[in-house]
Amino acid sequence: MIRITYRRASCRFILTAGFVCLLAAKSPASTPRGGGAGKARTAQHPSRRRAAAASSTSVQAKPFGRLALTPPMGWNSWNHFAGHVTARVLRQTADAMVASGMKAAGYRYVVVDDTWLAHHRDARGRLQPNPRRFAGGIQALAAYIHKRGLKFGIYEDAGLQTCAKYPGSLGHYRQDARTFAGWGVDYLKFDWCNVPFKRFPGLTPAQVAHRLYRRMHQALLATGRPIVFSLCEWGLYTPWRWAGEDGNLWRTTGDINDTWARMSAIGFHQNAIAGYARAGHWNDPDMLEVGNGGMTPTEYRTHMSLWAMLAAPLMAGNDLRHMPAATLQILTNRDVIAVDQDRLGIEGHRIWRSARPRKGQPASDQEIWVKPLAGGSEAVGLFNRDTAPVTIRLHLWQIGMRAPACVRDLWMHRNQVIRSASLARQVAGHGVVMLRVGPHAECN
Ligand code: GLA
Repeated sequence: MIRITYRRASCRFILTAGFVCLLAAKSPASTPRGGGAGKARTAQHPSRRRAAAASSTSVQAKPFGRLALTPPMGWNSWNHFAGHVTARVLRQTADAMVASGMKAAGYRYVVVDDTWLAHHRDARGRLQPNPRRFAGGIQALAAYIHKRGLKFGIYEDAGLQTCAKYPGSLGHYRQDARTFAGWGVDYLKFDWCNVPFKRFPGLTPAQVAHRLYRRMHQALLATGRPIVFSLCEWGLYTPWRWAGEDGNLWRTTGDINDTWARMSAIGFHQNAIAGYARAGHWNDPDMLEVGNGGMTPTEYRTHMSLWAMLAAPLMAGNDLRHMPAATLQILTNRDVIAVDQDRLGIEGHRIWRSARPRKGQPASDQEIWVKPLAGGSEAVGLFNRDTAPVTIRLHLWQIGMRAPACVRDLWMHRNQVIRSASLARQVAGHGVVMLRVGPHAECN
């Protein structure tokens, strides 16, 4: 990855997704926050004020503005099944979501990703499911999922073909939206492959994206069915700046994969855009890889914790039907989920990072992130991106708190009253200590 930094903007080349700019200029993300603001009391935290204002105005004014008021939680077929997804897998996944306790922990959407389609539309131009893998049709599948108290999500593409080369929606937005509503779809992930930019002379690619996502949003609204709209243009055109008008979540990066390198590169790079997330409209750093086998349990705990700090959609991406207890325990940690789902809807941000390693010195790569929570507490993530264990110290003033404070360890599920001005924790290599820090009385 090549990283170029110039005045107020930091742009990255990501091989899987092209060119991504994380513009920090004059954004809510660049307002002073958290530890950077020194000893400001948390009650006056600027991001808390912003969230309150947002929830009382724009969100409620929209027809389906009450959708996804907390980051959507569910499961998506792509990370584990890719092109091998079937209706049977979806039905069994819905059953497993209920039986395993994931539904009780808050997971709701069962989303089928790319490749559910037949290679051709029917004679009237309607989308049809793959006749072999979805023989019973999508409507029956959606009904099966609804019967279990869950919601059903589907995938399409804004262009001529999906990324896996099945029919895209271009030229059929209204028709497809009506088809989805008729089938009982509750969530649409709308991808960005195979878009013929030449058909839009005079428009920049960003303007084309804006126009097409708006068009589909309007088509969804016209159906009268509340459908969560998930934009997936991989962060190419700074969607955090405009997609909140049209969508409930927008991908901020190219695709995740099941490695520490990719997961951590994505997760720890979200800081500059944190200020754009708000109730009903979320930055989406892509789906979870927890349980897919490419990372250690420690790394998966870090993945889950970081996504919760980012108020990210929590879309599990593993095989729920065959899930070891350790994976389930990570995915259903209620203390961590409560951070993600906190009703204030404020995305966490970094308040401290260790000095970058210099030539001849040992590497040192730790970060502290904080996320304001309803009721005045702060979620704190002490992250160690190095491979060796290390001690990380948090000063209470960094998060606008004073001793005595109540500190809950969200992976150990233990409370402790802290009477000194700081606390130190040993953090495993690639690990996290995740805390909720609040007033002393919370420990009673
Ligand atoms: C793109 C998306 C992925 C997935 C695939 C399916 O790469 O970013 O999340 O939907 O397409 O082809």
